[in-house]
Amino acid sequence: YNAYRTPTFPQFRTQYIRRRSQLLRENAKAGHEPAVRRQYLKLRAQLLGQRYGPLSEPGSFRAYSNSVVRSSRTTLDRMEDFDEDPRSLGARGHRRSISRGSYQLQAQMNRVIYDERTPGSVVPTSVAEASRAMAGDTSLSENYAFAGMYHIFDQHVDEAVPKVQFANDDRHLLACCSLDGSISVCQLVPAPPVVLRVLRGHSRGVSDFAWSLSNDVLVSTSLDATMRIWATEDGRCIREIPDPDGAELLCCTFQPVNNNLTVVGNGKHNVHVMNISTGKKVKGGSSKLTGRVLALSFDSPGHILWAGDDRGSVFSFLFDMATGKLTKAKRLVVHEGSSVTSISARSWISREARDPSLLINACINKLLLYRVVDNEGTLQLKRSFPIEQSLHPIRSIFCPLMSFRQGACVVTGSEDMCVYFFDVERATRAIVNKLQGHSAAVLDVSFNCDESLLASSDAGGMVIVWRREQK
Ligand SMILES: *[C@@H]1O[C@H](CO)[C@@H](O)[C@H](O)[C@H]1NC(C)=O
Ligand SMILES: *[C@@H]1O[C@H](CO)[C@@H](O)[C@H](O)[C@H]1NC(C)=O
Repeated sequence: YNAYRTPTFPQFRTQYIRRRSQLLRENAKAGHEPAVRRQYLKLRAQLLGQRYGPLSEPGSFRAYSNSVVRSSRTTLDRMEDFDEDPRSLGARGHRRSISRGSYQLQAQMNRVIYDERTPGSVVPTSVAEASRAMAGDTSLSENYAFAGMYHIFDQHVDEAVPKVQFANDDRHLLACCSLDGSISVCQLVPAPPVVLRVLRGHSRGVSDFAWSLSNDVLVSTSLDATMRIWATEDGRCIREIPDPDGAELLCCTFQPVNNNLTVVGNGKHNVHVMNISTGKKVKGGSSKLTGRVLALSFDSPGHILWAGDDRGSVFSFLFDMATGKLTKAKRLVVHEGSSVTSISARSWISREARDPSLLINACINKLLLYRVVDNEGTLQLKRSFPIEQSLHPIRSIFCPLMSFRQGACVVTGSEDMCVYFFDVERATRAIVNKLQGHSAAVLDVSFNCDESLLASSDAGGMVIVWRREQK
């Protein structure tokens, strides 16, 4: 309810809960008619029981003065369980144990207090250990403990799966594309997981695809020099658009604010902004890089586009929202001659720090984290993490920003057939977890919106869905 009520002002959510529990406590002290109150509490418990299942502490209504606070705590805990970050609404319904209840309430309060130190800000300070406490006082490594495999999809085995991605705000819808020329859309729950449909039509390998914001459309790019637009509902191909240069298409991304526009990168060194309503390239929306364009990423407001090529350069472009025009801004040579195979942008590195960042894979046996230092997309290397990548088009991602967690993690594939998790804020021993199970280079990784599942794909065509350990 609170996530819906004030989606853009998370600080009001906790304020409401805090005020409510304050009123409950004041009322308890004021000494209202005990019989009425008992009746009220009984009714309330019944309603709560109907809505959320039986209370864990049925005896708690005996002591009158205690019952108000205790039952309100129980309620708060339950609310807390459903009080998810708007980004992870899909997580609703996933309920934690309420036995740590009072501690969670305290943590919630602490967070509010910290939040209010900087009015208008929703970001706790780095001393807000409450975030950690709310996650059960676990370390990032415990947060990223995976219990094992949930499912293995092998419908593309023998041809690489360069991209795997969960749908937006959906815990159980997944798609992957393959060099076998098809894209599959998979449903993970109810068990057993199924391949809902296979999108066929491209005559050569599919290099990349993207979900639209509302998941109703997928765009794909292919080595057959076309992009296709698909209706995910029934798997129909809505439109086939040839590359303006007739070149192999290697990557694509939606304009995050206007999903009618998609940017593609091709084998003739060009990026093109495509209007998918018309199937035409946008005037002024094309630009040339120094090599084959392998990776694209917008910042979240859609103002800056970064594009990486196989000669080791990353270019930033300013995107004009009204016209779709691109203006070349900055160039960074990550490593001369080494392919830039993945770029991901993130405007907040963690809940605690607004530190716009870019994550880059570049075939130099390292995953690179850059800071974005100005409005033109200028990059400054912040740190790097050792992986194995000298050849394959390996991709990496930032973990979703969860409302209860401190710190930040990134996940990447690697040629040693492992999936690596790194804590970007830990100075030494940054590896948080390593998943082994693939039998070929791991090319891409994707988290679902509540991080309960991670999917990884490899150069042998296997897709593994990993399940996070439930505490
Ligand atoms: C996208 O295109 C559709 C139809 O072509 C139009 O109704 C809609 O307003 C467009 N959206 C934006 C953000 O331009
Ligand atoms: C894309 O095409 C639609 C439909 O013709 C048009 O209304 C819209 O203005 C175009 N967008 C851009 C940025 O050119």
